[in-house]
Amino acid sequence: MSQAVVETESKANAEKVWWRDAVTYQIYIRSFSDASGDGVGDIQGIINRLGYLKDLGVDAIWITPWYPSPQHDNGYDVADFMDINPEYGDLGAAQELIEKAHEHGIRIIIDIVPNHSSNEHKWFQDAIESTPDSVERARYLFRDGKGEFGEEPPNNWQSVFGGLAWTRISEQDGELGQWYCHIFAPEQPDFNWDNADIRNHFLDVLKFWLDRGVDGFRVDVAHGLVKAEGLPDAPFQEHLGLLDSRAFPYWDQEGVHEIYREWRKLLDSYSGQRMAVSEAWVNPPSRSALYVRPDELANTFNFDFLTVKWGRDSLKASIDRSIEGMAEVGAPVTWVLNNHDVVRSVNRLEMDFILGSGTFDHERANQRARSAAMLMVCLPGAIFLYQGEELGLPEVLDIPVERLQDPIWRMSGNKERGRDGCRVPLPWHDSPHGAFGFSTNVEVTPESSWLPQPADWGRFSAQEQEKSAGSMLNLYRNALAIRKSNAALASLHFDWIQSSDKSLVFSRSDGNTFICVVTFESGESVPPGYQIIMSSQDIVSGQIPPNTTVWLQRAKH
Ligand code: GLC
Repeated sequence: MSQAVVETESKANAEKVWWRDAVTYQIYIRSFSDASGDGVGDIQGIINRLGYLKDLGVDAIWITPWYPSPQHDNGYDVADFMDINPEYGDLGAAQELIEKAHEHGIRIIIDIVPNHSSNEHKWFQDAIESTPDSVERARYLFRDGKGEFGEEPPNNWQSVFGGLAWTRISEQDGELGQWYCHIFAPEQPDFNWDNADIRNHFLDVLKFWLDRGVDGFRVDVAHGLVKAEGLPDAPFQEHLGLLDSRAFPYWDQEGVHEIYREWRKLLDSYSGQRMAVSEAWVNPPSRSALYVRPDELANTFNFDFLTVKWGRDSLKASIDRSIEGMAEVGAPVTWVLNNHDVVRSVNRLEMDFILGSGTFDHERANQRARSAAMLMVCLPGAIFLYQGEELGLPEVLDIPVERLQDPIWRMSGNKERGRDGCRVPLPWHDSPHGAFGFSTNVEVTPESSWLPQPADWGRFSAQEQEKSAGSMLNLYRNALAIRKSNAALASLHFDWIQSSDKSLVFSRSDGNTFICVVTFESGESVPPGYQIIMSSQDIVSGQIPPNTTVWLQRAKH
């Protein structure tokens, strides 16, 4: 690839903006740190851990929805976009977090959920209490049903979580009436983005938080806001998952881009380089690049890389597609290995296991997760980490079914366990009191926190890992520190170097003075003339073991 492409990118973006190469840490607020002692994470818990985040070396944090919500989808069902869920704190606590984070040199990105609200949002309540052609109904996607008595849904759309994407309501006279659209749970009715109230409201919401000092927004389901004209049937009737990026009449419609152009203007009207990052499950990366054209959003998660099968050729192809796709619009690639919707990388990179065949090799899984982390940290662009990734937390696969919270479990008719396995509260120390330090309340146990923790969770705790030089936590800390201090990693330079067909080798600097080697099923020798800066496994006698990433610098003469 593509030195020329990379150069074009850097010219197109001469101004240095922080989001181009920032390291952002995703906080799943319910599971991060509980200061109030109720077994649920909160804003004060984040404030208490800012020192930890600073030591880890992150530039920004993204906080999952903290708004009032009945929590049918852990806060992605928002009842009021301009307030804070009392379980997490209040507007004063949010303000304090924003200010304290800034004092630590950490920026704040908050989640904004514009595709839908909670069914407890005032506007939805008003809508169901109004008549079919009212202005209140027009803010959502209400339609008459098909069939003689309107008994069939308006079209064949399926909810991402399972079942129909339509629910029928009872009208004021008690008779069954119109249907409303919900691409997710029935408790998450979709807004009608053709409606001026919605467009104006979200501009007000953005201003509300920008005025309070947030640095940016993570835009939930950014590709879903605008639906195809006339709400036509989908070409496939089968159930699709969140990760399904095929063409559907409710994904990735041209109209969404006008919204983001307007948002960008608003963001740019504030000082301090405010930004937004989109969650858009679209394919290929050249399609996601449209969300980050110069007059649209700043970043878009690179789900191509997140979902790629671990292996030399697949990774190489994904990295090429990603860098080339984003270079077309002059945007940075935004690498991500984990988030709250996917199986944690420790397990996921062992794809055989996920697909249900083969055996799960714990040692290799851990090696791959370490290697993947160092590979990602070495790539040019921005990166997002997900809480617990730096601890090497595995997916929790055996949460008792009666404790599962994800609406996917219920809506799939108890067929899919859903995403709770990557959302289990973090262990901060090795004693089970306070759920391994997750809660300040010692009465909270691993069993009684909002999602139960495995009995051996303490061995992954931050406190334990601090003691061991070879821990995952120290790998992340060291890698992020080198990324910050080494000029090669601050550059956008990226070139593949010819290597055997068993490993990947790329350069991050002119003259190949800084290179990265990734091995897979077989090892490699350290190339002559290079010194090891850091590696994900021990290197003995110049032999890089399998499943390893190593950063090398050409020895100075
Ligand atoms: C996004 C979130 C996911 C949520 C969904 C509905 O994909 O990441 O957690 O369930 O939107 O809001």
